[in-house]
Order: sequence, then structure tokens, then C-alpha cells
Amino acid sequence: MLHASIKSIASYVPKNCISNDFFAQFLETSDEWITQRTGIKTRYFADKEQMGSDLGVSAAKLAIERANITAKDIDLVICATINPDFFAMPSTACIIAAKLGIKNTPAFDISAACTGFVYALSIAKGYIESGIYNHILVVGAEKASGVLDFSDRTTCVLFGDGAGACVMGRGNQVGIKDIHISADGHFSHLLCTPKSFSNNIQHEALSVFNVMNGEATNKNQFLKMKGNEVFKVAVRTIANDAKDILERNNMSADDLDYFVPHQANLRIIQSVANTLGLPDEKIILSVQKYGNTSAASIPMALDYAYMNGKFKHRDLLLLDAFGSGFTWGSALIYADFA
Ligand code: ACO
Repeated sequence: MLHASIKSIASYVPKNCISNDFFAQFLETSDEWITQRTGIKTRYFADKEQMGSDLGVSAAKLAIERANITAKDIDLVICATINPDFFAMPSTACIIAAKLGIKNTPAFDISAACTGFVYALSIAKGYIESGIYNHILVVGAEKASGVLDFSDRTTCVLFGDGAGACVMGRGNQVGIKDIHISADGHFSHLLCTPKSFSNNIQHEALSVFNVMNGEATNKNQFLKMKGNEVFKVAVRTIANDAKDILERNNMSADDLDYFVPHQANLRIIQSVANTLGLPDEKIILSVQKYGNTSAASIPMALDYAYMNGKFKHRDLLLLDAFGSGFTWGSALIYADFA
């Protein structure tokens, strides 16, 4: 029996640190509101010329180094992103592979919003455990600032740019105990970038998203969210998903060393932790520093905790993500990278 295991974890944050006060200069908002409602104090934005792939490459280089392999050893590159370098093609995974000097190796993107990293892990697990590949580079890379409407205080204060990466390889013992992914597209309109690319521009006003979100505007390429409604579904879904995966493995929250949730909002995380009966010291938080970095959020949180010396080798972690789609997913993993 082959076991998939996360061999290394790494992240990259662009240099521009943006405080809540930055937004208060041009929007009716405040550090107090953002902190109280979200827990976010800062986020980082990439430079104009920095692409999502550049963020991903920086995280990937470190992940490859920490796995004690070279880029030549990578058999597959998967990038989870909702902010690809290019519309439709080529994939950001191909760009990342090329920038790493990786040739003649499969590479593809996963689009599952904030759950993208967990989706990518589930795919990588399958390839490793079926013996098809030995080393898979999984990257979550987001230049979210590119899809933010800076005149909309309900969304632009929430997101940040960044990347996280891991190398998945073969382990001597179980590395990913269980993983579960799911989706329900009936909620698509609550969190989306409404611009339709399948229909041409003239037909755009007819798209379901525009009907649900109000009239078509020239801002439809930007992220729109009905935050309040998303909040309620997110709390319920993340908590149920966590309970299900624990029950399925005859475990309880007591068996976990750490809970590593998607970092969208401190209140969502606290509410889920209360439902599960998880004490504060078992919850990994990086939302205060990075904001919501979508598919990069979980690997960035993992690396943040790793770099702060939180994890011991083989600690049992529960990852739990939720995002646009809606998509969601959870994974019980051992911290083999620590
Ligand atoms: N500053 C000041 N006031 C604000 C701001 C702001 N930045 N944003 C909203 N408000 C106002 C609203 O306009 C509203 O005012 P009104 O009462 O006069 O209409 C009031 O604050 C309350 O708004 P709510 O939306 O009810 O505020 P809420 O407490 O729900 O917080 C938030 C909003 C932070 C967006 C929250 O709903 C949330 O975190 N939602 C879920 C986000 C999430 O998990 N997304 C999924 C993953 S992301 C992905 O997949 C890409």
C-alpha cells in the first residue's frame, strides 16, 4: 500500500503590507469595523507587475528546497487559483512549471475558489497512492487584488495576495488519513465574479448572476459577495464537514492537535471551533495578518504555524475549507513536513 504524505510546506507574501487604515482613507470604513467583524488587521498586495504565478513560484521554490529534492524531481504541478495569470489559457500551473525550469511534465489548474488547495491535495493523493507519480508540487496562488472593487467596502477589505505550496510524495506510513471534497452550485450567485465569458458581452445582462446581483455594470469582472448570506452557510458547512470527517474516522476534536480552517473571517472560525468544542490553542489563525487569500489561505496558514514552531512531526491536523461555488472540503493529515 502506497501512502501519500506532505513532505514540505512553504509560503510567499508580497512586500506591500496594507493596514485597515489604508481603506479608511477612501471608503467609509474603519480599523475598528474591519477588526471586529473579520479579525483582519493587515493583508499584502502584490506589485502591479507581479503575477500570481510569481507568487506561486516563490512559495514553490522554498517547498521544493524544504522537501530536499530539485525541480527536476517534480512529476506533476497543480495550481489552485481563482486569479489565473491569463484568462482561460495557458494555465498558471504551466507558467509556474516553466518559471521553475520544469519541462515535459504535466501541469494544470484547479478552480474551486477557497477550497482549491484541498481539492488539489485530494487529486495529488490519488496520483501518489496509485503509484503514478512520486513527487507532486501543489500550489495555491492568488493575486486577489486584481479582482477587487476598491469602491466596495463590503469586499475589498477582506482579501489579500499570497501563495502557499507543498510537495507531496510517498511516505512510510499514512500521511493523509482522509480527505473529502464537495460542492453545491446552487449558491454560485452569492459569491462570484459576475462577468460572463461564455456568453458574449451583449448577452451579459441576461446572465443569471446579473439577475441575482442587480443590473449589469462595467464592474462585473470584480468579485461580488452577499457576505451575510455566505457567512451563515459557511459556518454551518464548515462545522458539519469537520464533524463528518471526524465521525467517519471514529475521532473527536480531542484527537486533533490542530484545526487549520480556511482563513476568511475570525468570527466564522470561532463559531465553528465552538461548535466542535475546540480550545483556542488548537486553532491555527493567520487571517489577522494575511486576510483571505482564497486557495492560498490554508497552505499559508500551515506555513505560518510551521514557521512559528507550532507543529511537531506527525501532529494530526484537520484542514477545512469553504469557498465560492459553493465548494467545501476537509482533510485529516499528519504533519510529516514538520
Ligand atoms: N466598513 C464599514 N461598514 C461595512 C463594511 C466595511 N468594510 N462592510 C460592510 N459594512 C456595513 C454594511 O454595509 C452593513 O451596513 P447597513 O447595516 O447599513 O446595511 C453593515 O456593515 C453590516 O453588514 P453585514 O454584511 O451584515 O456585515 P457582517 O457582519 O455579515 O460582515 C462580512 C460582513 C465580513 C463580509 C461577513 O459577512 C463574512 O465574513 N462573510 C463570509 C465571507 C466568506 O467566508 N467567504 C467565503 C470564502 S471567500 C471565496 O471563496 C473567494
